[in-house]
Amino acid sequence: DASCDLRGLRVLITAGPTQEPLDPVRYLTNHSTGKMGYALARAAQSMGADVTLVSGPVALDEPDGVHTIHVQTAQEMFDAVRGQFSQADIIIMAAAVGDFRPDHRSDQKIKKAAESTLNITLVHNPDILAWAGEHKRKDGSQMLCGFAMETQDLLANAQSKLERKHCDMLVANNLNDPGAGFAHDTNRVVILTPDISSAACSRHSGTAQPVDTQDRHVHAEPQPLM
Ligand code: C5P
Repeated sequence: DASCDLRGLRVLITAGPTQEPLDPVRYLTNHSTGKMGYALARAAQSMGADVTLVSGPVALDEPDGVHTIHVQTAQEMFDAVRGQFSQADIIIMAAAVGDFRPDHRSDQKIKKAAESTLNITLVHNPDILAWAGEHKRKDGSQMLCGFAMETQDLLANAQSKLERKHCDMLVANNLNDPGAGFAHDTNRVVILTPDISSAACSRHSGTAQPVDTQDRHVHAEPQPLM
């Protein structure tokens, strides 16, 4: 929206996947390309905001005029976000952060085992969005937006995430929707906010899955990213 003026505001955006190393040549990751977060960074920058982008490994060019911090792991992304957090007015977490990492990173390449299986123990990564929800300023002067990509029960899961992680806005997209999800130049989302979601849900006697989703579809058709 060209009429939106973000001059004087600092926007912190996370984008892309994380890579969680197993040894010097292997890592765990996901299909995120970073397109969503990079498009948001460009849009915020064009609206006059002072934008910091914390990016996992992606094949995209750094947006012009945006301060880009490159990270690999979820822990590194967490450290970068914590370093920038107190200065940010708007925080948008579009990264697909790995929920788990191998509990041990081997210094040497793991050799093909004599056994037919290799067991890897995974431990939880910090949940950066949940941390942000807990630590945002209590006076409401920081706006926190999270993302949810689901393959089932989209609205119920998104609603629960909005509340659990104390978001001011939650952008939900369904991996199975045409034109939505990973690696697309378009997206198709439902935006939830605490007011809208509680109002919508209250009309349905406490069920977590409101049926009147039409007015909450920002775009009925997949929309191009910037
Ligand atoms: O709970 P789930 O991982 O699906 O939540 C997705 C949202 O949480 C996204 O906004 C993502 O950027 C954020 N997230 C995060 N740190 C994690 C996991 C998810 O910031 N470790």
